[in-house]
Amino acid sequence: MKNIEIIGGNRLSGELRIHGSKNAVLPILAGCVLNHGETIIRDCPDLSDVYSAFDILRTLGCIVEFRDNTAIIDAKNVNCYTIPDDLMRQTRSSVMFLGAIISRCREARISRPGGCDLGARPIDIHIKAFRELGIDIEEAEAYIHCKARSTISGGKVTLDFPSVGATENVMLLTAKSNGTTVISNAAREPEIVDLQNFLNSMGANISGAGTSEITIRGAKSLHNAEYTVIPDRIVASTYMCAAAASGSEITLTNIVPAHIAPVISVLRNSGCEITLSENSLTLASDGKLIAVEGIETKPYPGFPTDAQALVMATLATASGTTMFVENLFESRFKHIAELAKMGAEITQFKQVAAVRGVERLHGADVSATDLRGGAALVIAALGATGKTIIGSTAHIDRGYENLVKNLTLLGAAIKRT
Ligand code: EPZ
Repeated sequence: MKNIEIIGGNRLSGELRIHGSKNAVLPILAGCVLNHGETIIRDCPDLSDVYSAFDILRTLGCIVEFRDNTAIIDAKNVNCYTIPDDLMRQTRSSVMFLGAIISRCREARISRPGGCDLGARPIDIHIKAFRELGIDIEEAEAYIHCKARSTISGGKVTLDFPSVGATENVMLLTAKSNGTTVISNAAREPEIVDLQNFLNSMGANISGAGTSEITIRGAKSLHNAEYTVIPDRIVASTYMCAAAASGSEITLTNIVPAHIAPVISVLRNSGCEITLSENSLTLASDGKLIAVEGIETKPYPGFPTDAQALVMATLATASGTTMFVENLFESRFKHIAELAKMGAEITQFKQVAAVRGVERLHGADVSATDLRGGAALVIAALGATGKTIIGSTAHIDRGYENLVKNLTLLGAAIKRT
């Protein structure tokens, strides 16, 4: 497992283009299964989670080409409805393929998606919605087998919780169907809007994404399309935090300011100067941040859970104490122990963490606990004194394209060892 070594203290400067969104492209890649032809996805990020999705598509019978951030998916010959265990274990978002496979093959079989670094990661909301839409589901110990009784005729489903994945799975299941489906209490994330726009570009008829009620008027068939994925709002938040923590001024292009409004607001309140244009931003920080009002993670448009670790690392050296409440995942504070090795003073009780700012963090040997927890350690190391070695960096490679190369171009002393 390669490590990342960072010597902290460099001020970053320069401009960086933000790559396409991991959490938008994964359900979009699943959606390519619905088109019995060729679909072209542009600004597809070069990430290990994306390669796992490519492996699943190939297992189903698709031909996948990927070059210069463009993916060409030929789904003419989908001839399999099973995702093998090893692929299911590679990435949790493989559950996103369920709806698309059932729509294409009338049947799907996957091994139960394992828990992950953030907690149990159940899929009961997906299952309940599918059953309400007439899908027969057998839940065995190790696998889940789904069968559509006849054609998928749609219906009304209300999600007990605005689950991003469950919302996307229902959209993928019903985009091609013989009726109308209404999802109530749907998730409102920008990635849901991107999936709607992508499916509509293939001839689907979906409206309401971005609100709590989404209407899917089933299409008879879908056709070839070319689609460009939205920018990754969490990757943008990551580089913003890197600049804030290291007392830098950088410009990020290819961003959608509305998608990162909660993070912009928190970093502005902590003392960063952020100027916005239509699709770019400049963040300037003197590195002397101040603690902010309590940060509570919520479904979109609230403060994103994926940015919780990033902002915690940034405010670990702010003057004052910042309270964090993690409402989305039961186990998303594992980075606290690693930040403590660097001198952070963070007290945690269940879903609450109190971050008392210290003058500066110091380098240490730490280990990435999960994707965003790992990114948080990079952010902390950039502003710390001395050398930090970060292990288990495969977690980070799941969601960040060229992170070491990009930070090097911005002036960081960072390398893989
Ligand atoms: C998506 O995960 C994202 N992943 C996550 O990003 C993100 O943190 C999350 O949405 C919330 O915004 C992708 O899009 C690939 P959920 P997802 O279903 O769909 C519980 C990252 O860092 N739940 O909205 O799995 C669940 O356990 C990743 O890029 C059920 O109980 O999130 C969690 O506590 C991490 N039953 C909460 O709901 C279900 O059937 C939110 O989950 C489904 C979810």
